[in-house]
Amino acid sequence: MSISQLARSIADSPTLRLNEQARILKEKGEPVIHLGAGEPKSKVPMEAIRSAAAQITTGEVRYTPTDGIPELKKAIIRYTEENYAKNVGPENIIVSGGAKQALSVLLTCLINPQDEVIITAPYWVSYPEMVKLVYGVPVIVRSEDGRFQPRVQDIKAAVSSYTKAIIVNSPNNPSGAVYTAEFMAELVEFCETKGIYLISDDIYHKLIFDGKPFNSAYKYTKKDLEDSKLIVINGVSKLYAMTGFRIGWTVAPKKIVEVMINVQAQTTSCPSTVSQVASVGALNGIQSGIESLRFMLQNNRDIMVQELKSIDGVHIEKPGGTFYCLPDFRAFGKTSVQLCEFLLNKVRVVTVPGKEFGMEGHLRLSYCGTVKDITEGVARIKWAIDPSAPNEIFIGDRKLVRDWL
Ligand SMILES: Cc1ncc(COP(=O)(O)O)c(C=O)c1O
Repeated sequence: MSISQLARSIADSPTLRLNEQARILKEKGEPVIHLGAGEPKSKVPMEAIRSAAAQITTGEVRYTPTDGIPELKKAIIRYTEENYAKNVGPENIIVSGGAKQALSVLLTCLINPQDEVIITAPYWVSYPEMVKLVYGVPVIVRSEDGRFQPRVQDIKAAVSSYTKAIIVNSPNNPSGAVYTAEFMAELVEFCETKGIYLISDDIYHKLIFDGKPFNSAYKYTKKDLEDSKLIVINGVSKLYAMTGFRIGWTVAPKKIVEVMINVQAQTTSCPSTVSQVASVGALNGIQSGIESLRFMLQNNRDIMVQELKSIDGVHIEKPGGTFYCLPDFRAFGKTSVQLCEFLLNKVRVVTVPGKEFGMEGHLRLSYCGTVKDITEGVARIKWAIDPSAPNEIFIGDRKLVRDWL
């Protein structure tokens, strides 16, 4: 069969394979604990459900303008004013089918073949593949000290005459790191001086713990939006537990939005009408659900970190936000894919290999599930890899005896 070079260049995902294995095990009644999830279990806001239901019952679910319905753009304008202290107009916004599509359409509009896009590691798994899909070249930048806080000096060292854009994501998936104000300020200044696009993926921007602020790139720009190289991606997926609605958006200079509309119009057209209406409900409705979610996640984060610290050899950097952490398991001498497979096979715990995020030897663990899942999941991991753990464990109603340490 003839498959395009481009499609073949896109990496397959060990995570999808592991998830499939986990699904089959669960179906067979195995006591699987999922610490790999990328979505909170909280409920969609009532206003979103009511708005979506009302729209469906009209029987009128049709195309909308490609860049989104005016009501949603209005809600996003208000959201941007309230959360970023930034005034933008409808011409600066395009609504897409999730933040993922927003990024993909944006990259199509910015990147020429061989243009380089700098991505700081650890990074969200899709960034490098999305860059490859538009024939760009992802350039991964790691902090020399191996920490999760990127450093502008490392980014500067990676810039070449081909550098077109830099993607940052704070709070960060997978590490939970919140980038410092100093870093964001210096990076914005650098990008504006050099004329490099700075794409800020803010999808977790309200899930920050310990009363710390969100250091939005907009805080540090000295330029008008129309002259700026700063582009912000956002959406309802994570904050409003609306992953399945598939609504995200881009805030950018008008000239970029115009071409994004052309690209989106010829590929997927408008995002789902019902989902857009639901998103208006979420953005305009009561916002207290986000604070409850943030509070719950902070509590879960504390439990996860405390439990992981009890495993000899695991190093964990406390996440400042999101619902992920990225502990370092390199002391155990396995690759991250081997360790994930081992944990699923031996103790039925689903984790995500750090390799997918550019951090081999680490595992991404989510704490958006229940406290019971977190404590039991980490206890099982500990039992599987830590020789100081007791030799026996109960998983469901099954007693396991360890015979490999
Ligand atoms: C950093 C980051 N950006 C974007 C997305 C995609 O968001 P959406 O569901 O709105 O496409 C995710 C989802 O996991 C993410 O972690």
